[in-house]
Amino acid sequence: MADPTGFPSFSATAGPLAGAAALALPVVPGGRRKPTVGAGAEVLAALGVNAAAALSRDEAKGEPGEVTSVPVDRDGVETVLLAGIGDGSPRALRRAAAAVVRRAKAHRSLATTLALGRDEAATRAVVEALGLASYSFNRKSDPKPAKLRRVTLVVDEPKTAKAVVQRAATAVRAVRLARDLANTPSLEKSPAWMADQARTIADTAGLDYDVWDEQRLTADGFGGILGVGRGSARPPRLVRLDYTPAGAGRHVVLVGKGITFDSGGLSLKPADSMVAMKTDMSGGAAVLGAMSALRDLAVTTRVTALVPLAENMPGADATRPGDVLRQYGGRTTEVLNTDAEGRLVLADALAYATRELAPDVVVDLATLTGAATVGLGKRHGALFANGPRLADALVAAGDAGGDTLWPMPLVDAYRDTLASPIADQRNIGDPESHYMGGAIVAALFLQAFVGNVPWAHLDIAGPARADGDEDEVTKGATGFGVRALLRWLEAGAPA
Ligand code: BES
Ligand code: ZN
Ligand code: ZN
Repeated sequence: MADPTGFPSFSATAGPLAGAAALALPVVPGGRRKPTVGAGAEVLAALGVNAAAALSRDEAKGEPGEVTSVPVDRDGVETVLLAGIGDGSPRALRRAAAAVVRRAKAHRSLATTLALGRDEAATRAVVEALGLASYSFNRKSDPKPAKLRRVTLVVDEPKTAKAVVQRAATAVRAVRLARDLANTPSLEKSPAWMADQARTIADTAGLDYDVWDEQRLTADGFGGILGVGRGSARPPRLVRLDYTPAGAGRHVVLVGKGITFDSGGLSLKPADSMVAMKTDMSGGAAVLGAMSALRDLAVTTRVTALVPLAENMPGADATRPGDVLRQYGGRTTEVLNTDAEGRLVLADALAYATRELAPDVVVDLATLTGAATVGLGKRHGALFANGPRLADALVAAGDAGGDTLWPMPLVDAYRDTLASPIADQRNIGDPESHYMGGAIVAALFLQAFVGNVPWAHLDIAGPARADGDEDEVTKGATGFGVRALLRWLEAGAPA
């Protein structure tokens, strides 16, 4: 996909810190003493930079996110950036690197010692944050190309660091791809357009590709996807991608909600709630982004992606409240609110996965409920799983990657709220019983379609979209979930 904002090239060198317009160095907190410049500090004297004075002028403490910039005009260096790194953890380094790259955007090149003397996790965190915080998206008639083109990491052993830097750059590309897809306006982004993007991804990333159009969806009985899509002039699709490395034993299926626009359908959303709904395919975008990186990351697990794509619109043929849909595999759903559409398309894909693909584990990602955002806010994804090992593994992968997931319960007692007198299930809770806990009720609805297969559901309605730039997250679509999925798959998809 065209990337008008540009993606800087990343390389590793043994140093010294030089040869770039912006140089970034770590600042270590001093406890009760003053903070001090860490790795690479020897360059400062040569450049005539009085770091102690600059830090004390800014009242810097060495906390992550703080950046003291000192203008320089010597040896091609334009600025020195002194960045707090707190406890030096990957999380702190991500914040530091994100703050650095926002200051370095106005320069052509950046070199940094933020990862010098640290481990692979630190290097990966720094590169990922540099690549993600520098992302931007627009559809301006005269987009300005990104100025920052080259990022150099000063490390101890460039040979070993090179592989880590490449993996990080691959992960960054995957997240940026997911952001691009989710930021694309829905006028452009129909279900068929998304299916075309998936085909391009498959071609570039060495994946097998299959697509169901409306005839095939009808023939195969995908009543949920068809039911959600029928109110739109632009018909639904189901995309399947397959990554099949040689000798793979386990089979993972990833499912991503792909609502290209969610107006609510006949249960129409209020105008303000509709504004963000071009990003209602963020789960699908995260799955496609992750798939794009599997070969480059040399993932050894077989992975199938399913992305059900539909536009939820209130057209003349739209599904009505009270209609009953027949999901893939035969279960019936009484639709009482057409705005609870994500679970209808996911149910078809989950039923297809468990019935046809013999998966060892299924993970779905979806901007499913406003309730998840009410509970956890905008930086944590809600994690539901039918087994503790899978839940723990995903939480750990999320922490390592920077996509924070928080475990939520599948409360047995709430299941009765989904009972329907005329169908196997209703698509929203009954206001008379256990109606609250909307994110849990939605997860319980989905669970009926996975049986006993190890399964996790990530409700990413909150973190899929950001109201502003913060750390490595940028305003608009965030690509949340890509890094968690990749870390989990790189670890062999433990469940
Ligand atoms: N796409 C929305 C969920 C959503 C809301 C995502 C806000 C991101 C931000 C979903 O399809 C939806 O409308 N869910 C309803 C479910 C309700 C009708 C049971 C909701 O959360 O209000
Ligand atoms: Zn909805
Ligand atoms: Zn939705």
